[in-house]
This record gives sequence, structure tokens and C-alpha cells, in this order.
Amino acid sequence: MIFRQLFEPISSTYTYLIGCEQTGAAVLVDPVLPAWERDLQEVRRLGLGLAFTVDTHIHADHITSARKLKLEAGSRIAHPAIDGLVCADLALEEGKPLEVGGIRLEPIFTPGHTDGHHAYRIGERVLTGDALLIDGCGRTDFQNGDARALHHSVRNKLFVLADDTLVYPGHDYNQRRVSSIAQEKARNPRLGGERSLEDFMRLMDELDLPYPKFIDYAVPGNRECGVCPPDVPGNLAQYCDQIGESRQG
Ligand SMILES: [Fe+2]
Repeated sequence: MIFRQLFEPISSTYTYLIGCEQTGAAVLVDPVLPAWERDLQEVRRLGLGLAFTVDTHIHADHITSARKLKLEAGSRIAHPAIDGLVCADLALEEGKPLEVGGIRLEPIFTPGHTDGHHAYRIGERVLTGDALLIDGCGRTDFQNGDARALHHSVRNKLFVLADDTLVYPGHDYNQRRVSSIAQEKARNPRLGGERSLEDFMRLMDELDLPYPKFIDYAVPGNRECGVCPPDVPGNLAQYCDQIGESRQG
């Protein structure tokens, strides 16, 4: 199996490329619109063809390139069924693995950051999206987020995986790339160790984070599998334009 961790710097998102060496089929998890061409070039450079794009949830901080890649490369769009996206070609749910060549992606329902969030286990790795970050977790104050649900998801759905399972997060803002279930169980300052549910709920409640600057464009755009809304203001254009492209006028 081919595995690559790609970084999108505008939203500090990790996109994962998983490829089957036998069949040449590839999957991109959480691809980001401004990086669509780089991601597709990487798929092709490895001698692969893009079969599916998969998202962990409806993102609020970037727009998915699922639709763009479908247009450009003919890939199919897979998304958690619970979000009810009419633009998705395949609805994912826990208990029904996505099998692409020799790749087996197992959806794990992990609500709390959003109410439809899924992580994906691939053998000895787990792509945790925004449910579990390295030494952190996604915020729970938008998109029907729920700290109680997130605590349950991480403790009862992710921390029960084998200790040596490698944790690949949806974001990192400090150049960290990979962790493990054992490491997060032991030292995640929000969810690890003996931190109680009450503690965690109070901590999340007191974060007092600023309003996400792109959420009003990203959420409707992602409900359409990656459409950049026409009214995106100039100061946020970088979230829609290709990396390196500068807008005229
Ligand atoms: Fe998110």
C-alpha cells in the first residue's frame, strides 16, 4: 500500500493519499480545493488513478476539492451518509468498509466536532480528522458540535484501537505529523490520562475561540461537495484559488 501525507498550508490541513500498488487505484482523504492540482499530480506521479475522494466531515475551515477532482479526474465522491449530501456518489457508514483494490477504509462514527464526523481506519493507521488531533482535538462549538459526544467518540471509539495504531490527524498547526493511540491516551492534554468528562466539557466551554472566518462560505460550499460560493470576499480568496495563483483585478 502506498501512503502519503500531504499538507495544505492555508488551512493547515493534512490530506492523505492512499494507493493500491496492485490495481493502481488511489483514494484522497480530505483533499483541499487550492491544492487539487498538486494532489492530482502526486497521484499520477505515483502511477495511480484517483478512484475516490473521501471527507471526514463537512469542514468549516476549507473547501473540499471532491467536486473539482471528480470533474478533472473522474473520481467518485464518498462522504458520510449521515450528512445527507445529495452530491455524494457513495454514502459511507460505520460497519461498511470502503474497499478500493487492496485498500480497506473502515469508517468509524466519531461525532462531537460535528454531528456527522467519521474517522477512517486503514490497517494499522487511523485518520482521525478533527475528532482527535495530536495533543488536542477539534472545537465543539459549531455545526452541532458537542463536547460530551466528542469525549465519548475519542474514548470509546478511538482509544479502544490497538495502542500501536498510528494517529494521523486532519490538521496540525505546529508541524507535527503523526502520533499513536498509546501516546494520545497517555498525554493528550484534553482527552488523555485521567481527565474526566466534566473536566473536558468545562475546558471546551471555556476555550472562548474566535468565530471561524471562513465558516459561512465553507459549510454551504462543502454541502455541495466543494463549490466556492461566488460571494467570497477578496481577503478570503486564497481559500478558493489554486496555490500560487493570484487573482487579477
Ligand atoms: Fe473541521
